[in-house]
Amino acid sequence: MVNKSHNIYFITGNKNKFDEVSNIFLNKDINYELYQKELQTVEIQANNIKDVALFKLNSVKEKIEGSFFIEDAGFFVDIPLNGFPGVYSSYVMKTIGNEGILNLINDFKNTKAHFSAVIALYFQPLDEIITFEGEVKGKVSETIRGEHGFGFDPIFIPDKLSNNTFAELSMSEKNKISHRSIALNKFIKFLKKNPVKK
Ligand code: IMP
Repeated sequence: MVNKSHNIYFITGNKNKFDEVSNIFLNKDINYELYQKELQTVEIQANNIKDVALFKLNSVKEKIEGSFFIEDAGFFVDIPLNGFPGVYSSYVMKTIGNEGILNLINDFKNTKAHFSAVIALYFQPLDEIITFEGEVKGKVSETIRGEHGFGFDPIFIPDKLSNNTFAELSMSEKNKISHRSIALNKFIKFLKKNPVKK
């Protein structure tokens, strides 16, 4: 029988997300192999992205063997939209998009926004579900700017950069500060503490 204990499956249909994640996995000294797998997941409407992520993870557990994870993210405009779109990010992106978000904002001098990411992992060696979270704070850009990235990247300016949107950064620049990379680096730390047993 083939030993697949060193495989970890990222359940996603989003190629951008997979590319960001594999770019961070690369060159990290871990003896697990990352694979993308597309499976139909169940997305519930909940108050926070962690609950959404955990439900999604549980919705595929009968369809896959070994260790696997999903990642769920949200874009929150704290000022002036009180956190909207948050858990509705996917739906809002499909309906009104970045232009629609900008149309909801009057005073761009005072915006505050953040991205949150939750990785929910089923880790077979311990038969446990573990979550890792990351957040990046910033503000909303006055205009849609940049060609890289995906989703809300062209309207988000992280605090750590003076005026560039996420979409104006290369993938590796975004990966140095993004919500996803913060969650993923915690995940990688966990894998280093729990290496594949030969
Ligand atoms: P989900 O995690 O795929 O459910 O993402 C929810 C929504 O947020 C989707 O419309 C994504 O395009 C968007 N989104 C997720 N992560 C990012 C990101 O890193 N940058 C910009 N938009 C994102």
